[in-house]
Amino acid sequence: MKLWEKGINPEPAIIEFTAGRDRKTDVHLTKWDIVGSMAHVIMLHDVGLIDNEEKKNILKALHSLFVWDEEGSLAIESGIEDIHSQIEKEMASILGTTGRKIHTGRSRNDQVLVDIRLYTREKIDSMAQLVSRLFQKFQSLSEQYREVLLPGYTHMQPAMLSSFGLWFGSYAESLSDDLALLVTARALNNRNPLGTAAGFGTTLPLNRKLTSELLEFDDLIYNSAYASLSRGKVEAAVASALAALAQTLSRFSMDVCLYMTAEYRFVDFPDEYVTGSSIMPHKRNPDVIELIRGRTNLIQTLPGQVAVLVSNLPSGYYRDLQLLKQLIFDAFEDLVECLEITLLMLNNIRIRKNILENPIYNTIFSTEEVNRLVKQGIPFRDAYKAVSVMVRNSSFSRTALSDYVHEGSPGNLCNEAIATRFNESMKCFRNKSAAEMAGKLMEYAK
Ligand code: ARG
Repeated sequence: MKLWEKGINPEPAIIEFTAGRDRKTDVHLTKWDIVGSMAHVIMLHDVGLIDNEEKKNILKALHSLFVWDEEGSLAIESGIEDIHSQIEKEMASILGTTGRKIHTGRSRNDQVLVDIRLYTREKIDSMAQLVSRLFQKFQSLSEQYREVLLPGYTHMQPAMLSSFGLWFGSYAESLSDDLALLVTARALNNRNPLGTAAGFGTTLPLNRKLTSELLEFDDLIYNSAYASLSRGKVEAAVASALAALAQTLSRFSMDVCLYMTAEYRFVDFPDEYVTGSSIMPHKRNPDVIELIRGRTNLIQTLPGQVAVLVSNLPSGYYRDLQLLKQLIFDAFEDLVECLEITLLMLNNIRIRKNILENPIYNTIFSTEEVNRLVKQGIPFRDAYKAVSVMVRNSSFSRTALSDYVHEGSPGNLCNEAIATRFNESMKCFRNKSAAEMAGKLMEYAK
């Protein structure tokens, strides 16, 4: 069945190619497609396009489809293009003529837009909860190992005194910035495209504000043509936020891979969390961390892929846009897996406490030696020269964490201030699940 069938039998190979991966991808949208239809039907009744009896029957039928989906028995049949067509087919077989009225004043273009936005909102909200758990883990490791010293590196050369507190805490603050991007992506996403039809509005007197309220959007996308332009634009914003999170994980995993080498040995994991070699009995490999690095590096190509896909598309709907779903949905899934496994690894990370005993780190106190002279009134350049001479025999007195007092230094991590900012952002992620939303909308069937 095709929603656009008009007596010509479409060539099956054409149908298969155009459906593409939608039969698999669209199952992520099923619940939201039903919820969107519920809101649409309540609105159709409100503006007098269907009567009360029809509204109640349609809502009840939609709800039974929701339950089938929860039970796993609502699948997209072969020969059916997408979830929108499958649901309409089911509605027609349950309710006949009344069932077919759900498409009144709607195109699949605004239907898929609203489904994607509701799906994306849910995914962003649950991702934020996961990011929050990881943020807290980094912060608690930072507090736990606040006093444990680490050499800080630049150019892969020992540079200055650092600490595990500073290192773990840096990834917490990085996640806090990533979360700010997720807040922005969420805000752009949380506007209602429903009612813009094919991208040009409709002569039916729809009440778009009502569907926005029912679906708990912050506002409308007003311009109908912009609604279709926004497909690809919102994905770009979401892609940037996901790529930022991926970058944080990728850089952390690179650190860990390096810090696990025999040469560094700053961190380690229990045997159950590392992998072996099929030929070299001594190997303890960080495969998990390498895969986090590889997968998150690939996620960082997402903004580029979204941009390329929509570049040079004229305004209006084009089937190219369908391919965005797969990209974004897969990225959500990949990133969730990477966040979860990072959390598991962090729950088991071991750190070494006597790293600075290695004489190669004797020189990392040279900069603070210069500062000591500066505090005695010696001009910085003169002090620098004097200390440069000392570097050859590296006779420096060591600084302690308590010598570092300014905000963000190893002696004053400001983890509370970072947490306050993070928690402020977390207040934005608060929407209902599809089941809660369906339950709420079913009040209108009474
Ligand atoms: N599967 C399509 C998509 O994701 C649904 C919209 C189809 N609209 C159309 N005008 N062909 O874009």
